[in-house]
Amino acid sequence: MPLAQSTRATPARRARNDPAQYDDLAADWWRPDGVFAMLHWIAEARAALVPPATRDGAVLVDLGCGAGLMAPHLSGKGYRHVGVDVTSSALGQAAQHGVLAVRGDVAAVPLADGCADVVAAGEILEHVPDLAATVGEACRLLRPGGLLVIDTLAATALARLIAVTLAERLPGGPPPGIHDPALFVDRAALVRECARHGVDLRLRGIRPSVRDLLRWLRTRRGVVRMVQAPTTAVLFQAVGRRR
Ligand SMILES: C[S@@+](CC[C@H](N)C(=O)[O-])C[C@H]1O[C@@H](n2cnc3c(N)ncnc32)[C@H](O)[C@@H]1O
Repeated sequence: MPLAQSTRATPARRARNDPAQYDDLAADWWRPDGVFAMLHWIAEARAALVPPATRDGAVLVDLGCGAGLMAPHLSGKGYRHVGVDVTSSALGQAAQHGVLAVRGDVAAVPLADGCADVVAAGEILEHVPDLAATVGEACRLLRPGGLLVIDTLAATALARLIAVTLAERLPGGPPPGIHDPALFVDRAALVRECARHGVDLRLRGIRPSVRDLLRWLRTRRGVVRMVQAPTTAVLFQAVGRRR
C-alpha cells in the first residue's frame, strides 16, 4: 500500500496485480520517500509482533518478502530470515540485506513441512489468486507452537474505496494497478482456513498515525507509526500459533 510517487518517470502499463510492476519499481524498495514507504512502516509493525527466538537455529519464513524490508527490524532477534518471492529483482535486494532468498510461489513454497518457528505473510495475501492454498502453505511451514503473523487488506467496500479508488488518485498514493481489489482478503475465510490448518487467528485493524503521516507528507522523512484502528475492515494484522 505505497504512498509516494515512483522514481520511474513513465512506468509500463501493466495488468492490475501483475508482479512485473515490482521490477518496474525496483529502485524504490529501500527509498524512505519512495512508493514503498508505507511498506516500511507496516514491516516495522509486523516485526514488533515477532518475539525473540527461543532456540538456536530458529527460522523465520517471510512469504512474499519483496526486498526484505522486515530485515532491519528482526536484527538481534535470533532468526535465520528466509524470504520467498516470485520477483528476482526484489529477492536480489533482500539477499543484500541478509535474507536467504528463495524464488517461489507462496501457493507452492519449496521448503519443508514444519521448518519455521515463525511465518510472516506481510502484504501478500491481497495479491494471491488462491488464498486457501497460500494459507495452507503458511501453516504447513510452521512447526507446532510456531507463530503466524499476517497483515493484509480486507475484502470490503471501505478498503476498496480507501486503498484503490482514493489512494491511487492522491498525490503520493500507491502506483495505480499495484492492487487488484478482487483479491482483497475475506476475513472470515482467512480465519476459517487458518483454523482448519491448526492456527487460531486474532485480528486487529491498523492505520498510520495521522500526525506522523501529515509530517511525512510534508517532509518525506522519518517513520510513520502504525497504530490501532477501530476496525479490521481496511488494513489489519492477524496472529496465531499452530496447535
Ligand atoms: C506488496 S509487496 C510486499 C513485500 C513485503 N512483504 C513487504 O511487506 O515489504 C508483495 C510482494 O509479493 C510478491 N508476490 C506477489 N505474488 C506472489 C506469489 N504468488 N508468490 C510469491 N511472491 C509473490 C511480489 O513480488 C512482491 O514482492
